[in-house]
Amino acid sequence: MRMVDLIEKKRDGGELTAEEIAFVISGYTNGEIPDYQMSAFSMAVFFNGMTDQEQATLTMAMVDSGDRINLSKIEGIKVDKHSTGGVGDTTTLVLAPLVASVGVPVAKMSGRGLGHTGGTLDKLESIEGFHIELTEEQFIQQVNELKVAVIGQSGNLTPADKKLYSLRDVTATVNSIPLIASSIMSKKIAAGADAIVLDVKTGEGAFMKTKEDARKLAEAMVSIGNSVGRRTMAIISDMSQPLGFAIGNALEVKEAIDTLKGQGPEDLTELCLTLGSQMVVVGGKANNLEEAREMLKEAISSGKALSVFKQFVSAQGGNPEVADNADLLPKAKYIVEFLSENEGYVESLEADEIGTAAMLLGAGRATKDSEIDLAVGIVLKKKIGESVAKGEPLAEIHSNREDVDEVIARLQKYIKVSAQKIEAPPLIGELIM
Ligand code: URA
Ligand code: CA
Repeated sequence: MRMVDLIEKKRDGGELTAEEIAFVISGYTNGEIPDYQMSAFSMAVFFNGMTDQEQATLTMAMVDSGDRINLSKIEGIKVDKHSTGGVGDTTTLVLAPLVASVGVPVAKMSGRGLGHTGGTLDKLESIEGFHIELTEEQFIQQVNELKVAVIGQSGNLTPADKKLYSLRDVTATVNSIPLIASSIMSKKIAAGADAIVLDVKTGEGAFMKTKEDARKLAEAMVSIGNSVGRRTMAIISDMSQPLGFAIGNALEVKEAIDTLKGQGPEDLTELCLTLGSQMVVVGGKANNLEEAREMLKEAISSGKALSVFKQFVSAQGGNPEVADNADLLPKAKYIVEFLSENEGYVESLEADEIGTAAMLLGAGRATKDSEIDLAVGIVLKKKIGESVAKGEPLAEIHSNREDVDEVIARLQKYIKVSAQKIEAPPLIGELIM
């Protein structure tokens, strides 16, 4: 087989066989296929797409390029959730203990992440003593006992994806649905998921700017998952404004705890119930989404979900008292209110720009090696569509530096108040399964 012939076949709209795709991925991973040929191949995929069969085969070829986490010693269907990335998205912190509390095992490997705030691991580390290093044996034992554990990434998972993603980044081929879908799904499958729930974000703050593209990506991933034996469901959710009120690590931990107590922001609560219901269904613990939602609501109102959160925190060395006393979380030195200059209705809260404001405070990493400040961030006081009086706070800036002028200038630019009544954008779009 020659790579040049496969590039030509894809360029001319042909469908590659499983052997051909395996040849491309293994050859690229081990260095036999050079970057320039893989670049041409990626561009051919960008223009001509892939069939459902090709996407599924590509996904499994990338899984086979490296290690796989073996979770077979964990009883039950291991369900993983993936979000395509949002601002102030605290769902994992809520969902892990919440679905675990109704019996779905959550064996989660999480990342630190670049961007507006830290990743799930950074957020958890704002709980004093919490550690993310468990041996494989401890990890498996904890999931069997408590149904939930969260650890850092280990092993050499999907090296083909790492290499290809870096190449796509510099060859204008990131934005190809078959390539994105196979990239995401390969990582979930290599991490040991038996079933997968996907939150595909759309809007200003998201990777997929339009609902049409978000739907195509969701459909591609659901098709891949189901065709390789991993039951998969997806939703499309709005990311034109940040999720919940809090953007920042410790601030989001507090928000997650409030949500587990049934006192969280409406949007975050709704998103967690929607995604959580799908996790419970694909995890085989309920027959349908309605039944699953009732189970989750009951777990919140009875305190069961919060109790699992405490056990989980405690098992990983953290102080479970944070659940009852948010003062135990790191706190910023200064809290500056950002006031509305006008009376009216909140018209826009541009998610990625507000996320960047939180990053300027130190909540996120600008580069891989930056230090993050777990205490700082932004807490919104109003969401799109809410009314606001002149001089009323729109947000609080939690900072460890006295000078927050740059952050205020950004909020002035990206939080708009209109004199006319504004409809809030619907949070949950389509369900795809
Ligand atoms: N996220 C991924 O993991 N892969 C992509 O290709 C794009 C976004
Ligand atoms: Ca939030």
